[in-house]
Amino acid sequence: MADGRLSNTAASNPSGIGKPVSRTDGPIKVCGRAPYAAEYEVPDLLHAVVVGSTITRGKILSIDTAAARALPGVVDVITHENRPHAALFSLSYLDTVSPPGRPFKPLHNADILFDDQPIAIVIAETYESARDGAALVTATYRTKSHHTDYKARKDKAYKPLIPRFGIASPPKERGKTDAAFDAAPFKVEATYESAANHHNPMEMFATTVAWEGDDNLTVYDKTQGSQNVQLYLKQALGFKMKNVRVVNAYVGGAFGSGLRPQHSAFLAVLAAKAMQRSIRLMLTRAQMFSLAYRPDTTQTVGLACDAGGRLQAVRHTAVAATSRHEDHQETVVNWSGMLYASPNARFGHKLVKVDTVSPTDMRAPGAAIGLFGLESAMDELSYAAGLDPLDIRLRNYVDHEQITDRAFTSKALKSCYFEGAERFDWWGRTPEPGSMRQGRELIGYGMAGGIWDARVAPMPVRARATWRADGGFEIAAAASDIGTGTYTILAQIAADAFGVDAASVAVKLGDSTLPFNPVEGGSWMAASTGAAVHKACEKLKASLVKAARTLPGGEDLKRRDVTFADGSLSAPGFAAPVRIAEVIAGAGHAELSETGTNIPDLLGERKHVGYAHSAVFVEARVDEDLGVLRLPRIVIAVAAGRILNPKTARSQILGGVVMGLGQALHEEALTDHRLGRLMNHNFAEYHIPANADVGDIEVIFVEEPDRQVSALGVKGLGEIGLVGVAAAVANAIFHATGARVRSLPITIDKIRDARPL
Ligand code: MOS
Repeated sequence: MADGRLSNTAASNPSGIGKPVSRTDGPIKVCGRAPYAAEYEVPDLLHAVVVGSTITRGKILSIDTAAARALPGVVDVITHENRPHAALFSLSYLDTVSPPGRPFKPLHNADILFDDQPIAIVIAETYESARDGAALVTATYRTKSHHTDYKARKDKAYKPLIPRFGIASPPKERGKTDAAFDAAPFKVEATYESAANHHNPMEMFATTVAWEGDDNLTVYDKTQGSQNVQLYLKQALGFKMKNVRVVNAYVGGAFGSGLRPQHSAFLAVLAAKAMQRSIRLMLTRAQMFSLAYRPDTTQTVGLACDAGGRLQAVRHTAVAATSRHEDHQETVVNWSGMLYASPNARFGHKLVKVDTVSPTDMRAPGAAIGLFGLESAMDELSYAAGLDPLDIRLRNYVDHEQITDRAFTSKALKSCYFEGAERFDWWGRTPEPGSMRQGRELIGYGMAGGIWDARVAPMPVRARATWRADGGFEIAAAASDIGTGTYTILAQIAADAFGVDAASVAVKLGDSTLPFNPVEGGSWMAASTGAAVHKACEKLKASLVKAARTLPGGEDLKRRDVTFADGSLSAPGFAAPVRIAEVIAGAGHAELSETGTNIPDLLGERKHVGYAHSAVFVEARVDEDLGVLRLPRIVIAVAAGRILNPKTARSQILGGVVMGLGQALHEEALTDHRLGRLMNHNFAEYHIPANADVGDIEVIFVEEPDRQVSALGVKGLGEIGLVGVAAAVANAIFHATGARVRSLPITIDKIRDARPL
């Protein structure tokens, strides 16, 4: 694992890069000492509870707040009629990751755009009073007709004018797809559906606003980007940047729901502004379903191959729901153009407007859906062509990204296929569906491939390294650790740079006052912030060498002759290692601090492109009589460049696989389209996988040296664990039973209905 650019330190640091260090934030989390947004102790606190609309579309005619106001403890009720001033125009509500369109403006006017839209906030001395008061607020409406069923509106599907983040989706056609499809001897074409899903992190959205007077406030918020929320509050509520500090030191998961500032943050700060007091606002689990979702999507995938199993034509189109006010557009179909060789390929992606809150990126947005379609269809094609599902993938393997004709910085997907298959005993499988059984259980082996972006953030990302004369060593960045292990890996990178124990590095994250970082999303943080930390440390070493030149014997020090280990600096001019703290004190400083910036390699990206890959192998067991499904074991092999920490990396992938199981088997938001309202906004009826749903998961990281993808050779791990899972599960169920289920979630009734007679 040693990398030339990390030399000049003690060779093998037991807590450095590549070592399975336990989470540095583990002990305080386990002991309950890591504060989450709703837990900050703030004096003189008021509590706010949100009241939601009971209609889906229309206008508020009147809101009756008298009963709530009469309740002991209730201090005020804020509605669109009496709220403090907020920005007028949609432009002011844009954040750094908004999709094209007009962002929702909370409590802006009487218009109702979606079910459970906030219409009032009740503010009280206690949470209980606020909650009881909220139950007493009533409204009358003039309803307008609504549409929440995107399937009923597919004739209104449109192609958004502005591509999101400049990503061309869908890509242009290559070759002559229809002619090639028609001429090919083996072909499949089918429609795949996926249900609307909700992020449902363990921690609910919450904001504690500490009102510090003179328009100064500290906002403890659950978010994936403190500086994104800071900017949003400045624009939407008219604060000065310097007066608003946003803190998200610990985040209990988010999975995309915290990429954009949520209305809960806006409303909490609005309430604080109205009261000129500190406010705490936490959403209920039910209200979490009114913030954001993964859109329901229909895809059609057509694949055709020649007699040798080589793809001749790929057709992939998708139609997904979005809100009426924004074009939330995911990259659903592009993956089909890059994962396999095919001379002919055509893509389409359209949106349908429905009267819901805007969908938001969720857990590998686009790919989680698109790869379910593509990798199910590849499985179907393998049976049509009489080939092993793994074999047909190998026959279509590419080492060149097919849409933009760029080289991959690295692609060890073949190792994933082989190491995963070996571990899983893939070749112990008999090809015929329904041909493997044990007692009453039909057994199936299914597999799928996965691909996800491995890029650094497309903007400069910064981190600061500080060594103090008292011996303290600190890393600081406004990055968010949303539960993924960021604190730990950054400590390891810094520990390696100086040859110290990772536990001795103080890492400060999740604070808008720290050096700039974008939202934690797209699996880009480890590569981006990690590189910035590495740079900051290298700059700091150079500063320390400069400082050491002021010490006796250090006059002629050269950077390359100096080594750093155990908090000391060694050089030929010094008889013994000198403590870094002494170097700083000796040079007359209280501390030395340097900021490193990771700048994306835009020129390099014109030649090569970074992706992480995976291969997922699933064993399905279906009870022949009852249809009950079990997944006793899953093997996932991942190619994600250099692994900073095999322990936290494994946890990331385990989490991704479990989310994939949720998508594949359980998670489904159900709307009563007559009312336009969500019916199952609770964990009793919206199922997420529990322990009993999850069997053995084995994670393999294959070797994948990569010197181009990012400064430390790191690719992201947040999403690659998820993307192949749903298709692998569906494919395993098909192999077990002969039932091809093309609709997520795969429930027992769907397996039964798809069973061949
Ligand atoms: Mo991720 S869906 O970019 O938080």
